[in-house]
Amino acid sequence: MSGPPLVERLRAQARHCQRAGSPLTAAILSGAADDMAAGGPTAALLDPLEDDPPGTVPALRLAGALHRLVLERRAPALAVHYPSVGGSLGDVWPPARAVIEEQLDTLRELVSRPVQTNEVGRSSALLGGLLHVARETGLPVRLLEIGASGGLNLLFDRYGHEVADAVVLGDPSSPVRLRERWQGTLPPYHSRLETAERAGCDPCPLDPASTEDRLTLTSYVWADQVERFERLRAALQVAAASPVRVEPLPASAFLQRELARPRAGLATVVWHSVVRQYLEPAERERVSTLLAGAGGRASPQAPLAHLSMEPERAGAGSFDFRVSLTSWPGGRTRLLGECEGHGPPLVWR
Ligand SMILES: C[S@@+](CC[C@H](N)C(=O)[O-])C[C@H]1O[C@@H](n2cnc3c(N)ncnc32)[C@H](O)[C@@H]1O
Repeated sequence: MSGPPLVERLRAQARHCQRAGSPLTAAILSGAADDMAAGGPTAALLDPLEDDPPGTVPALRLAGALHRLVLERRAPALAVHYPSVGGSLGDVWPPARAVIEEQLDTLRELVSRPVQTNEVGRSSALLGGLLHVARETGLPVRLLEIGASGGLNLLFDRYGHEVADAVVLGDPSSPVRLRERWQGTLPPYHSRLETAERAGCDPCPLDPASTEDRLTLTSYVWADQVERFERLRAALQVAAASPVRVEPLPASAFLQRELARPRAGLATVVWHSVVRQYLEPAERERVSTLLAGAGGRASPQAPLAHLSMEPERAGAGSFDFRVSLTSWPGGRTRLLGECEGHGPPLVWR
C-alpha cells in the first residue's frame, strides 16, 4: 500500500471538498468511505485502487466517474441531486451506492481513468506570475505549459480577469469572467504583457472541439459548483474560436525538445498547475534536471522562468496552493502568492 489506506484518503478528500464548497462531493466521498469500510459495493469498486499513488486521487476519479454517468443520463435517480443537470442537493449517498452496485463494471473502467480537470480559475495565478516575468525581463513571453489537459489555461488572456475595482485584465468582452478581486500586494498589472508563443503538452490531451473530451472535462468539475461549470462551458466556447495545440507528450519529452536551446529575445516560461502530484518520481526528477540545465544556459537576453501553482500539504487532508516563481539567470525562487485549489481567491505577497 502507498500512503494512508484509501478509506482514510476518501474521508480526507471529503473534508477538503466540504471546506472547498462542494457538499455534494463531500457527501458522496464520505458515504463511499463508510461503504468501503463496511465491505459494500464501493469496496468491490475501489479495493483494486488501494495501491495507486495517493497523488492520482482515486477519490476524485470516483466523483468524476459518477458525475459522468449523470451527465450521460445513465443515472437518473442520482441526477435528481446533481445541480449540474438541474437537480438539487439532497440525500445523495443512497442513489450513488445503488449506481455503484448496478453499474460496477462500467464504473471499474471509468475510475481507472486519470483525473482530467482543466480549471480556468487557475489561469489567474498564471497571469499574475507572467506579469512579474514581463516586468522583470521586459521581453515578450514564450509560454510552455506542461500537463495542459485541454489547453484552456494557455488561453488565459482570452478571459476577463477582474483583478481590482475597474481593472479587467485579459479580454473584457470574454464570456469567461473571473470576478474575484486579487488580494494582497498585487502583481504589476500595469506591465505590458505580450505572449509571443504558447504551446502545451499532456500525455492524454483533451480536445475542446470533441464532444467526448468536453464530457470528460465537465465530469471532473464538482457537480454542485455551478459557477465553475458555467466558467468551463464559456472557456470551451473560447477554445473553439482560438484552438491551441496540446501535444500528446509527457512533460520531460516536451521540455527536452523545447528547452534544448535558449531563445533570444523571448522570456521562456514553463508553467504548470496541479500537475506535480501526477508525475512519477522519475519523471519529476527528469523535469527538475531539464529545468536546472536550461536555467544554467539562460541569459538576460534569453531568460527562463518556472512558474507553478501546486498544493503544499498543510495538515491532514488540508492543502495550501502556492504560486511560485523561479527565474534564471540566477535561479532565485520566490513565493508569489497563495490560492485555493481551483484558483480564486488569490492572495499575493
Ligand atoms: C489535475 S490535471 C490539471 C490540468 C491543468 N494543469 C489544470 O490545472 O487545469 C493534471 C494533468 O496532468 C497530466 N499529466 C499526468 N502525467 C503527466 C506527465 N508526465 N507530463 C505532463 N502532464 C502529465 C494529466 O494528464 C492531467 O491532464
